[in-house]
Amino acid sequence: MTRTILVSSEGKYGITDGMNALCASASALDVVEAAIRPVEVAPECRSVGLGGWPNLIGEAELDASIMDGTTLHSGSVGALVGYKHPISVARQVMERLPHVLLVGAGAARFAAEIGAEPGPAGTEEPARRGWEAWLADHVPPDVRARWPDVPLIPWARLTADPETAKGTTIALVKDAADRIASGVSTCGWAYKYPGRLGDSPIIGAGIYADSRYGAAGCTGMGELTIRCGTARAVVLYMKLGLSVETACREAIADLRAAERRFRGGVTVHAIDAAGHPCVMAIGRAADTVRWYYWTEGMTAWEERQAVVEAW
Ligand code: GLY
Repeated sequence: MTRTILVSSEGKYGITDGMNALCASASALDVVEAAIRPVEVAPECRSVGLGGWPNLIGEAELDASIMDGTTLHSGSVGALVGYKHPISVARQVMERLPHVLLVGAGAARFAAEIGAEPGPAGTEEPARRGWEAWLADHVPPDVRARWPDVPLIPWARLTADPETAKGTTIALVKDAADRIASGVSTCGWAYKYPGRLGDSPIIGAGIYADSRYGAAGCTGMGELTIRCGTARAVVLYMKLGLSVETACREAIADLRAAERRFRGGVTVHAIDAAGHPCVMAIGRAADTVRWYYWTEGMTAWEERQAVVEAW
């Protein structure tokens, strides 16, 4: 019965709300939502919510998912446009539908039907200005004049910029009843091809939770963690008896084996069934990765640095 909350770097905007909810005896699922919602509307945050980096045509297509580690029920939305809190829409997918994942127009239709809080379809400032500047820097004026009614494939290649590709918010929570839950929300890869889903809405890739063993969530280049089923792998390694740290290291070894010359970065966040944490980062800027943690016995949440693994 050790209440615990771990959030990723962008989670600093929501850890206080999450910790307060946990201390007020909220369920792990409610705490995940409480910790992620503030990040989705934090004006400073460029990788989550409607203020996050848009896709190639200037739309904020948002991804989110949530998982109940006690029942293994989960809900996800992908490429959701025009709603402020994808994490809450994902929660409602889990609670109201016989489905796990809704995308695009169907996700937006569902969000409208449940009365989710709307927002603008285009991305907000200053991310919009960043996108316009990127277009001006990379796309010749004659092509820009016809944008977005041009072939987008060549421009998608140019967007593999690790500075804008990182981000995403993760919350892993263990409540007083020993229930574990995980959640994630993101705008995904900056200037991605429209319709691109990263790992965040894919249960087993971006997040996983099983109250018997622990939970995991990934930030960074989702194209790689989808291929390796990374979040599920971490929890499975713990089921097989590895410590949370060794489980993260094994999952990262899987990433390394899959992609020897990967340009971006991935951070794996995990807690075990007792709430012990580990956050391990690999790739570009791994030494700058921070995370936030509170567990019973601590007077306040702490900022910590990720363990860095060599690629
Ligand atoms: N990990 C977030 C993404 O790839 O979209």
